[in-house]
Amino acid sequence: MRIDVLSIFPSYFDGLTLSLLGKAQDAGILDLSVRDLRDWTHDRHRTVDDTPYGGGAGMVMKPEPWGLALDEVTAGSEHPTIIFPSPAGEVFTQKTARELSVRDHLVFGCGRYEGIDERVFEYAASLGEVRLISLGDYVLNGGEVATMAMVEAIGRLIPGVVGNPDSLVEESHEDGLLEYPSYTKPSVWRERAVPDVLLSGNHGAIAAWRREQQLERTRRRRPDLLRAADADA
Ligand code: ADE
Repeated sequence: MRIDVLSIFPSYFDGLTLSLLGKAQDAGILDLSVRDLRDWTHDRHRTVDDTPYGGGAGMVMKPEPWGLALDEVTAGSEHPTIIFPSPAGEVFTQKTARELSVRDHLVFGCGRYEGIDERVFEYAASLGEVRLISLGDYVLNGGEVATMAMVEAIGRLIPGVVGNPDSLVEESHEDGLLEYPSYTKPSVWRERAVPDVLLSGNHGAIAAWRREQQLERTRRRRPDLLRAADADA
C-alpha cells in the first residue's frame, strides 16, 4: 500500500518509522511518504494560510498549495482515497480501518488553523474518493495526530504487517465487543490470583469465561456498542 501524508509539520511523523510500521516499510509492504505542504508554496514566506472571507476568528488554509500538492501526489494513481482528518467528519472505527486497509493508495491531508478552503475538498473529489474522518468528538490542533492514529490502525491490518494474524482477530472491536482480560505469570502477584478457570486446561470453559468477560465489560464500559449490535441484528 502507498500512503502519502501532506502536512506543514512533517516531523510529527518521524515516529511512524519506528517499530511495526517501520518494519513494514523496510519489507516493502508499506510505502509511506510524508511531504511538507510548504514545498508547494511560491512566496518568500512559504505562506499556507490567509484570513477568512466573511470575517471571523483564525486563519484558513489557502487552496493553491493544496491543489498543487494533491495534483503531484495523485499523478498516475488510479483510485486514490483522499482523507482529510476533521472533527466535522464521519467517526473513525475499526470498520473504517478494515475498509481502508485494502486500498492501493491513501492520501492524508492534514489541516491546521481554522480549516482548509472548502473548494479544496470539491477539487480533491475530481482526483479520487474523498473522506472527511474524525477521530472522535473532541478537537485537536490539526490533522497530524489523527493521521498518525489512522495510519497505525490501518497499517497493522495490511497482510504481513502484524507477524501473527491471530492476534488481530481476538482484540477489542473486531467482533463488536471489548477484549477479554489477559494474565501471565506469576499466577499470584501481590496477593492477586489469576482466575482459576485459566489454569484449568479446560479450553471450552476458558472460551466461555472469556466470552462472558467480553460481554460484561462491554455492558459496563461501552453499552453503546451492544445497542449498535442489536440495531444491526
Ligand atoms: N482535527 C482536529 N480535530 C480532529 C479530530 N477530532 N479528528 C480528526 N481530525 C481532527
